[in-house]
Amino acid sequence: MQLHTEPLQNVGAEVLGFDIREPLTDALKAELKALWYEHGILLFRGQALDTARQIEFSRIFGPLEKHPLETQLSAEHPELFVLENGGPRDKFQTAFYHGEAIVGRLDWHMDLHYTARPNHGALLRAVHIADSGGETGFGDLALAYDALDGETQRRLEKLEVAYRFNMQRRKMRFVELRGYEPGPDNPKRPSDMGFPDFPDSIYPAVVRHPVTGRKVLEIVELFLDRVVEPERAGLTEAEADGLLRNLVEHIRKPEFHYFHKWREGDMVLWDNWRAMHCTTGTRPGIRRVINRTTITGDVTLGRQVEKQPDEQPEN
Ligand SMILES: [Fe+2]
Repeated sequence: MQLHTEPLQNVGAEVLGFDIREPLTDALKAELKALWYEHGILLFRGQALDTARQIEFSRIFGPLEKHPLETQLSAEHPELFVLENGGPRDKFQTAFYHGEAIVGRLDWHMDLHYTARPNHGALLRAVHIADSGGETGFGDLALAYDALDGETQRRLEKLEVAYRFNMQRRKMRFVELRGYEPGPDNPKRPSDMGFPDFPDSIYPAVVRHPVTGRKVLEIVELFLDRVVEPERAGLTEAEADGLLRNLVEHIRKPEFHYFHKWREGDMVLWDNWRAMHCTTGTRPGIRRVINRTTITGDVTLGRQVEKQPDEQPEN
């Protein structure tokens, strides 16, 4: 098999010349892994995919792990995390954006970030493609770091940022809340959705990628809460919040993003230690099924701290 790549719009690459039905030789596996580290986001189109092939292919990049939200794991293949729109879980994930009901929209995030030990990567396969909407966005946070000015880069070297797991989007401090209204059945507590309650997770604002050594801006808007002890870096809390707002504006720049419109036979693999992602969601009644396999994070990038009792969200 002769692989070559073409850049996707802005970030990531499409891998051409690959056929998942062919034997996965050691040389091919090494080549795929090198492409994954080089580009961070890889698209493969036109593949004859099924669950067994998805799992086997994903294992090239590391051992697989089960997601903590056990209610969404496939009973037959616990390595599969099933993302479904147009099914019985819609009411939990329907909210209003400028008056429009949208199912399953998610802001920029990294998977399992709230555990302090994000998975190394993940692979998505479209099982049922939405008639409209349902795009997945990917963003390159190594590129976002490189694009910062030198003074901001130096300032970030000393900073740590805290993320607070929360089911209520209105309580998140850095997502766009203009025009947002939660749906009547949105979960209030993690346990409403079968999630454990996670303590806050803390990361350096810039994380060195454990394999490639590249610096990655560890700023995503979902669950972002605060700078830890901003006074250590000579900042007031207001200044620290302003800095985070500017960084969130920075990671939202389209030049760091690729939005994927799903077609039959597509799979997208990303390096979750480097790339963030988001979903645009779908209108109610639109069916969309995506299966995800999750590649274990064998390095702890952050640390967890217990919330203080008076800081518990009032649910
Ligand atoms: Fe995700």
